[in-house]
Amino acid sequence: MTGAPLEGARVRLRPLVRADAPALAGFVNEPSVRRTALLAGPVSVRDEEEFVLRVRASTVDAVFGIETLDERRLVGVTGLHAIDRTSRAAQFGIFIGLPALWNRGLGTDATRVVVRHGFEALQLHRIWLHVFSENLAGVRCYEKVGFVREGLLREAVFHEGRHHDLVTMALLRRDWPGAGA
Ligand SMILES: CC(C)(COP(=O)(O)OP(=O)(O)OC[C@H]1O[C@@H](n2cnc3c(N)ncnc32)[C@H](O)[C@@H]1OP(=O)(O)O)[C@@H](O)C(=O)NCCC(=O)NCCS
Repeated sequence: MTGAPLEGARVRLRPLVRADAPALAGFVNEPSVRRTALLAGPVSVRDEEEFVLRVRASTVDAVFGIETLDERRLVGVTGLHAIDRTSRAAQFGIFIGLPALWNRGLGTDATRVVVRHGFEALQLHRIWLHVFSENLAGVRCYEKVGFVREGLLREAVFHEGRHHDLVTMALLRRDWPGAGA
């Protein structure tokens, strides 16, 4: 990892390790996390061990565990995917795996840290994401970091018994509030 420390006001980001797999499986199998996250599953601890090894070896993903600064507790996963070095674009993803910790600013803080890493260390031009249109907490979290809505993919995903609209949001480096800071 290069660039500024991967630390925000409330969280720090660190590489995932194999020993995280039981916690990760717990997060991914949590029904309220799965409701709005585009996650495969349900998953086993073994699946998550393989996930950790796969993303650590990947050249097109930069995936991090989210740890609270106060307790140094793993609370979620975030990162950049499908990193395209020609277009200098990547897809952002995040989940806080413990619903009791939602709405405390952890997601926004982690998003800010990943975006800074993407624009500074990885020299990206564009960071984009897909979010279910009904995921108002997600949309709000991304808007706070500077992402703007670009479009709507109508009924693009079949999930938990029905089709869902996906909102495309993106942040260009020149519009990033941290640019030039
Ligand atoms: C989306 C997610 C990462 C956000 O993390 P978080 O730590 O709860 O986010 P924050 O507390 O930083 O910000 C959430 C914002 O949404 C707002 N919010 C929450 N529920 C809301 C609702 N129903 N309507 C409108 N705003 C809402 C909060 O008030 C907060 O905004 P504020 O700071 O202006 O008050 C987290 O909810 C999560 O992991 N969800 C499950 C998985 C998921 O959906 N991942 C994203 C897939 S694209």
